[in-house]
Formats: sequence, structure tokens, C-alpha cells
Amino acid sequence: MGTESLPVCSHNEWDTVEEVIVGTALGACIPEWHVTLKATLPERYWSFFKEHGGQPFPDEIVRAAERDLDGLAKILEAEGVRVRRPEPMRQARGFASPHWRSRGGLYAAMPRDCLLVVGDEILEVPMAWRCRHFETQAFRPLLKEYFLRGAKWTAAPKPMLGDALYDEGFHESAKNGVASVLTEIEPVFDAADFLRCGKDIVYFRSHTTNALGVEWLSRHLGSAYRFHELECDDTHRMHIDTTFLPLRPGLLMVNPERVRTIPRLFRSWDILEAPPGCTPDDVPLYFSSKWLNMNVFMLDEERVLVAAHEKPLIAALRNRGLAPIPVPFLSFYPLGGSIHCATLDVVRRGALKSYF
Ligand code: ALA
Repeated sequence: MGTESLPVCSHNEWDTVEEVIVGTALGACIPEWHVTLKATLPERYWSFFKEHGGQPFPDEIVRAAERDLDGLAKILEAEGVRVRRPEPMRQARGFASPHWRSRGGLYAAMPRDCLLVVGDEILEVPMAWRCRHFETQAFRPLLKEYFLRGAKWTAAPKPMLGDALYDEGFHESAKNGVASVLTEIEPVFDAADFLRCGKDIVYFRSHTTNALGVEWLSRHLGSAYRFHELECDDTHRMHIDTTFLPLRPGLLMVNPERVRTIPRLFRSWDILEAPPGCTPDDVPLYFSSKWLNMNVFMLDEERVLVAAHEKPLIAALRNRGLAPIPVPFLSFYPLGGSIHCATLDVVRRGALKSYF
């Protein structure tokens, strides 16, 4: 089968994009309090999760976020990209495994977190948060369609997510130099802790990805891929794409507060230090920092979708010769991501290459 007819095919962050999944905020649920939230989320919002976990997200937040997603979908279509959407699910209903219960799910807003596209394969990842255990179900109609059209559809071993996976005392302990709420009892990872640069994959271990998860993925993908661990300063680390983002061959964007040393692999690349994000203080960032500004999405080696209010970043990208396309997206921020999180590039035209 030639690349042209593959229903799933994406090797990096910058080849010309042809098909994208855009998430949905509809049905979003406030996750119930758990030590994994304590490890990653801003302390000023812990009481919000403790009080409201298991309830639907407030309607006005969901509607406003969905308007931003619909707007993003229109902009993508206007740029010639085919947009697909998941099936909204009511997440505020409980579920259980033989070992634990959750009062609800989270959302289908961030396809970047739960699904990983590497080449012609689309993989359901073994997420570390219990509330996200069934998150890919909203995407199942799409996954099935891709499968029927010939895609390689896989899922990592379903994690058990028992109590032994979580280290309640993680603040005091740093295992192998990376403090994590996760133990190594089984492989877990979120897709958004990995970035594809052709044959090289950059990742970090985090509060959502453990070393066994990385080992599982690298063995699964095999010797065609080289894995590179990013070291950074972020005690709340979860999802690499607000810390480190290769924009195109030769141009890397980094978070200057978190990345102290550029990995050797990228030493010959031009480094763009992201300016600070511009989220006004009255926008509740329940899940994240203001570094969501870095969470941009490349349509090709020039066009880049950026949240419209992030003016300093837009200027910095333009200075580097990119063509920023502003997307109103501030109302989506309270759900914990920006455009890179809210999308999954299922098809980008290009071949598997080495860029280093
Ligand atoms: N963990 C990411 C940040 O807060 C989303 O920057």
C-alpha cells in the first residue's frame, strides 16, 4: 500500500498534515481526587477537585471550550485539513475494575494524551490515571473505521492501576533522579509524554509515564526507532509538549524555566526559548501552568496554529520565519491543554526519516 492511501500515517510534528482528530469537551467530568492529581495539578485548585470530583464540569466551561474546539476545526478545514471528531460520552458516571472504583471519567478533549500515532500505527496507551482508563472509548468509532480501512490498530497491555502503582510518599523520594508518583510495578504511559522526530523519539519520565512504560513502547516499536530521554526541571511533570517541542527540522522550542541543557541530539538546531504565556490571572487553569502557550500545532514546516492571545509567542514564531495562524483558544485552557493537546495528527504526508 502506498503512503497516499494509508488511513493512519504520521512520522513527526511537521510534515504537511492532511487529517486531524480534534477532541470534544462535551460530557467532561471533574476527576475525583487522587494522589496522581496531587502530583501534577496546581495546589490552588486541589480543593476544587476534592469538593467536586465525579461531577460534570460546569456547563459554561464546557460550552465555551467546545466553541473554541469548533472554531479550531473550522480553521483546520479552511487550511485544507480533514477534521474528525470523537463521539461525546457522558463521563460523569462511575465505573470499577476488580481492584478499584472511580466516580467518573475525565473527557475526550485531548486525543494527544490517550492515542499515539507512530507511522502507520495508532496505539491506545495505558494511561496512569484511573479516571482515564476508558478514555479511548469516545474514539472507538474512528479507530474502528481506520482499522477497516487498513490501519494498524493496537493497544498496550491494560494496566491494573492497583494501589501499588502509586507512591503516596513521592515528594520525599526521587527514583533514578526522577521524582514520580508512579512505581514500576507495571508499564504505564500517556502518549503526550512522547514526541516523534522520524526515527528518533524524545520523551520524559513523568507522573504519567514510568520507565517500564517507555521500555514497553520502545520494544513494541522495535529497532527502527531510537528513544531519547529529556531531562528537565519540573516537579509536576506531565506531558512533554509544554516543555519541549521540535517545530521543524532545525528548529526546537524549549521552556526556558524547565530545560537547562539542550539534549545533545539537538545541539546543532536553532533553539527558540518560549516567552512566558499570557493567560490572564482570572482564567482558572485547573490542570496546568501558563506554559500552555507552547502547546502549538504545526500544519507543515511553516504554518503553525497558536492560541490567539499568546502575542509574544506569535511574534517570536514569526521572527523565526514561521507563519503563525492565531486560533481563539483561551476558553479551552481550563481543561488543561492547548492546540497540540486537543489534536491528533492522524495523517501527515511524508516518509520515515532520520533528522539527526
Ligand atoms: N503539565 C503541563 C504544564 O502545566 C500541562 O505546563
